[in-house]
Amino acid sequence: MAGYKLKVKKSYQSDCRLSTVDCRLKTNIIFAANPESMNYDNPRLIIDSSNPPEPDRITWRSPSNIAIIKYWGKYGNQLPRNPSLSLTLASSLTDMALEYSLKETPDNNINLDFFFHEEENEAFKAKIAVFLEKMTPLFPFLRQLDLTIHSGNSFPHSAGIASSASAMSALALCLCSLEDKLFGTLKDGDAFDQKASYVARLASGSACRSIFPYAAVWGEISSVPGSSNEYAVAAEDFLHPVFKNYHNDILIVSSEEKSVSSSAGHALMEGNPYAEARYAEARRNFDDLLLALKKGDLEAFGSIAEKEALSLHALMTASVPSYTLMQPGSLAIIEKIRAYREDTGHPICFTLDAGPNIHLLYPEDIIAEVRGFIEEELLEHCENRHMQQDWVGEGPEEL
Ligand code: PMV
Repeated sequence: MAGYKLKVKKSYQSDCRLSTVDCRLKTNIIFAANPESMNYDNPRLIIDSSNPPEPDRITWRSPSNIAIIKYWGKYGNQLPRNPSLSLTLASSLTDMALEYSLKETPDNNINLDFFFHEEENEAFKAKIAVFLEKMTPLFPFLRQLDLTIHSGNSFPHSAGIASSASAMSALALCLCSLEDKLFGTLKDGDAFDQKASYVARLASGSACRSIFPYAAVWGEISSVPGSSNEYAVAAEDFLHPVFKNYHNDILIVSSEEKSVSSSAGHALMEGNPYAEARYAEARRNFDDLLLALKKGDLEAFGSIAEKEALSLHALMTASVPSYTLMQPGSLAIIEKIRAYREDTGHPICFTLDAGPNIHLLYPEDIIAEVRGFIEEELLEHCENRHMQQDWVGEGPEEL
């Protein structure tokens, strides 16, 4: 297999020597009267400047994910209208290093420098600074630090591969590691993952699912105990082994920026006449998918994955105003996938995210045949014959 496999080495070790506040202060999760809203606000996470931490750096590598049950439509503060389930990817990654030191002259600002592939990037910097500002009730110590972020992706920035899930999950992981390093408050692995997922969700909805190895569920549903609209939970236990190294090759039909952003797409669901039917359908598909994942039923898996992808794009077509993200190349690839499946009986299937690119899903044992099929029949529909080989992966890794 081309590309590289990651070895997960999650480290939740924290160094309390640097902490200047009582390490016993635990991050409080506050549940408000409305059970839908919880928050991690913690005004006690303030560095005692008479005992400053040494300047240091935290680095995380975090993957993208591909939703099989799609999140499409949201309410409130980035909460999903329906539960979603994704496979965590392995080769579409963001590496992010967060450097910090105590400000010499205190002020109330977020002081951030941002480098993307070692070049200063003002647009990304502005976006991240706004997000960090929003995060100060959770991480008030951010105002006390000079911060520099170095970020880079394992895939070209404008390759048509969504980078927000990998980038925003990497950022959330860096922030939680920083909190733990300074205050020792997130030593418990589950508590760490939950907060990282919560923070990633606020940065970019579907990013909350990238925190977990193999698969994740985001959104409350009775078939997954502990599931929540506020953060994703691990779904590895629902997977038959065949899905743990499933392939997801991304056929790049176009790398151009989408004509309608995901945020605008979510917003259009509010006036969509099919919205309520869609949310109900997603729940039915979700429970059917859980069964297929547990049994290793590849045919059912494929049929649900394709139904979800096509429903997503049908919802876009039915939005007012209507829009289309699929391109002729996307449809040509879909037709060829169907024909290949019919001819060979191989259990390949496709999904799409909010764009024209096709994610081709298939089990490891047919990789040689499928790669031949891609080479001979599908790459001609891709921009510069470009494909990103990806597969299900083991989740983020602290470097
Ligand atoms: O996380 P967002 O706001 O970029 O929305 C993601 C939407 C889809 O990719 C289409 C579906 C999903 O669940 O990832």
